[in-house]
Amino acid sequence: MKVLGIETSCDETGIAVYDSDLGLQAHALFSQVDIHAEYGGVVPELASRDHVRRILPLIERVLNDADLAKCGIDAIAYTRGPGLIGALMVGASVAQALAFVLKVPTIGVHHMEGHLLAPMLEENPPAFPFVALLVSGGHTQLVAVKSIGDYELLGESVDDAAGEAFDKAAKMLGLGYPGGPVIAKLATQGTAGRYRFPRPMTDRPGLDFSFSGLKTYTLNTVMGAKDKDTFDLQTQADIAYAFQEAVVETLAIKCRRALKQVNMDTLVIAGGVSANIVLRKRLEAMATKLGAQVFYARPEFCTDNGAMIAYAGCQRLLAGQSDKLGIKPKPRWPM
Ligand code: KG4
Ligand code: ZN
Repeated sequence: MKVLGIETSCDETGIAVYDSDLGLQAHALFSQVDIHAEYGGVVPELASRDHVRRILPLIERVLNDADLAKCGIDAIAYTRGPGLIGALMVGASVAQALAFVLKVPTIGVHHMEGHLLAPMLEENPPAFPFVALLVSGGHTQLVAVKSIGDYELLGESVDDAAGEAFDKAAKMLGLGYPGGPVIAKLATQGTAGRYRFPRPMTDRPGLDFSFSGLKTYTLNTVMGAKDKDTFDLQTQADIAYAFQEAVVETLAIKCRRALKQVNMDTLVIAGGVSANIVLRKRLEAMATKLGAQVFYARPEFCTDNGAMIAYAGCQRLLAGQSDKLGIKPKPRWPM
């Protein structure tokens, strides 16, 4: 089965073809990061307009790359939610119009299920069951995954998502958008030990997270340095380092707790923040001590992409699911 995947939930137009027998055939992405950078975050209206502009040329390119322009595809998977409603509408409308004309089934995929399954596209995929840490711009969740569709939420953020915290901290530091990669880069120049940020909610039992306090802590640290006239490049790097350490250590503590709680020895990390090298190394060190293994996707499949949607949709279709025509994106949708 050859599935066209369409991702338009936020600020990337992602298109791919996944073949259930042959694997990933082609994928392409158009990132809108330059469009939103000057606003310091995603502007929903601009995102929708750009998806409209990019989506059909990108589909044409991917179908040509996959040599499918003539012989065609068997089904279309698109991100149904959660995400920005206007952006989701673009992908859903195009998916269903194409499916109508081509007379093939469609399946609306949960964006976070796409992230969760993205490591399955790698050469050495994880085996079920596993604990998944989903860390994106909109979500921070720990999930026990027994099989496709069998997900038990173990814990989640009670306020900001980890990626959102990176983005907000970067803004306070006067850095660009998205914040994760810029903080990670600057942190490599940071001095260990100059600042120590709190590790929220690690001193009590449970698997929930809270990252909004770190935002306030970052702001106070930045203001303090500015007051003392010490807010230079080194200070920015030292704050970036301390901030990243706090997020990474907090995530590692909770992942360790989750693996022990459900007695599993496989950890999957997915979503934009799972591209973070320091996080990957820290989780690997933690897992090694527990006798566990860590799996993640290649960096381009950690952030939003069409391949994860094509893959997740394909699994759902193979399990006999599909949707009726009729567009009902879900901007809010628990997994
Ligand atoms: O999964 P994703 O592309 O979109 C959502 O579904 O939200 O995640 C985007 C988030 C942004 O908040 C971005 O700052 C963060 O992932 N991110 C990172 C890194 N790369 C992207 N955070 C930390 N370190 C990174 N290297
Ligand atoms: Zn995402």
